[in-house]
Amino acid sequence: MRGFGTTIFSEMSALAVQTGSINLGQGFPDTDGPPEVLDAAIEAIRAGHNQYPPGRGIPALRLAIADHQQRYYGLAYDPNREVLVSAGATEAIAATVLALCETGDEVVVLEPTYDSYSASIALAGAVMRPVTLHHPDYRLDIEAVRAAISPRTRLLLINSPHNPTGRVLDRAELTAIADLAVERDLIVVTDEVYEHLTFDREHIPLATLPGMRDRTVTISSAGKTFSLTGWKIGYAIGPEPLQAALRAVHQFVTFATSTPFQEALADGMEEAARNGYYGELAAAYEDRRRILTNHLSDAGLEVLPVQGSYFLMAGFERLGFSTDMDFCRWLIAEIGVASIPPSAFYQDPSTAPKLARFCFAKRQTTIDEAGRRLKQLGAFRYSNSPS
Ligand SMILES: Cc1ncc(COP(=O)(O)O)c(C=O)c1O
Repeated sequence: MRGFGTTIFSEMSALAVQTGSINLGQGFPDTDGPPEVLDAAIEAIRAGHNQYPPGRGIPALRLAIADHQQRYYGLAYDPNREVLVSAGATEAIAATVLALCETGDEVVVLEPTYDSYSASIALAGAVMRPVTLHHPDYRLDIEAVRAAISPRTRLLLINSPHNPTGRVLDRAELTAIADLAVERDLIVVTDEVYEHLTFDREHIPLATLPGMRDRTVTISSAGKTFSLTGWKIGYAIGPEPLQAALRAVHQFVTFATSTPFQEALADGMEEAARNGYYGELAAAYEDRRRILTNHLSDAGLEVLPVQGSYFLMAGFERLGFSTDMDFCRWLIAEIGVASIPPSAFYQDPSTAPKLARFCFAKRQTTIDEAGRRLKQLGAFRYSNSPS
């Protein structure tokens, strides 16, 4: 198994702690989720919701998830048979791949590839077939996807909004994927954990496209959406025959995920539908995106446009470093700011463009302190790079 990305994320986080760096590396907010959701978890514990929940998730949360798909996307799902609550999106991805792939099956993924995909595919004994989204616009090349499909292809596994590039696939790209999936009779797994974090364009769930509802497993993460990543509540939505396979894996991997947090997020999702929470979340992150973009640009880094997720990619080519690992390690050691080298998301890291990924899901004070430190980069530009 590759496990490469995970090692790098841990290394960057450990270095950040050792050096007292501002950590814009790993993708998690440095603020808590909505206070009323936190209170609801405490109340749920006090009210005695502390034993095993039903394996597929508590009914109230499954209902809230099905309501969410209906309300925002016009997609009807049976909360009892077509929704599975998992230990974060990570478990949903692993359970889906393990449930649907046999040894030797192939899974076509978009590269750069979120690191858990390669690990899940390897665990299933399947083979990953990456299709690269090319720098600098990271548009989908549907002919490359077509070329990657073979008689052994079992799944297409896509991600939009995309980590780490911030690309949001548009309707034309998604329609091309849908048409191909229908033509080749493939199941598509779509990781939409950043569904509510789009800035310049709308998020289009793949399952809404013609012919897709019954061949799509949609994965999302209440932990991400509610800035409660440590609660590890995610979910997979899809038609019953696929769900039955997922449940069979989930049953013996985690069986279930935390009862009081499910109770609280069921309330949180219901309330969010009433109080405009999702729009406010995107607006808050849009502001942070602007602030971090300004700091990175002021420091002489070339920031790529980002349409969704809470990540920015910035080019350091002018500083002269030959790899993103060198740059990210140096940035921690000398400047005190941690980022992630996106080569961790490539099957062949040497093909990764010279970029670093920065997370802007942070307090403004955190981002501003990173900006203050990044100002020192100006002095190093052109002259002081180690290579
Ligand atoms: C694209 C993508 N999918 C899945 C996950 C994992 O989500 P969770 O924390 O709910 O397991 C992440 C987390 O960073 C992610 O970026």
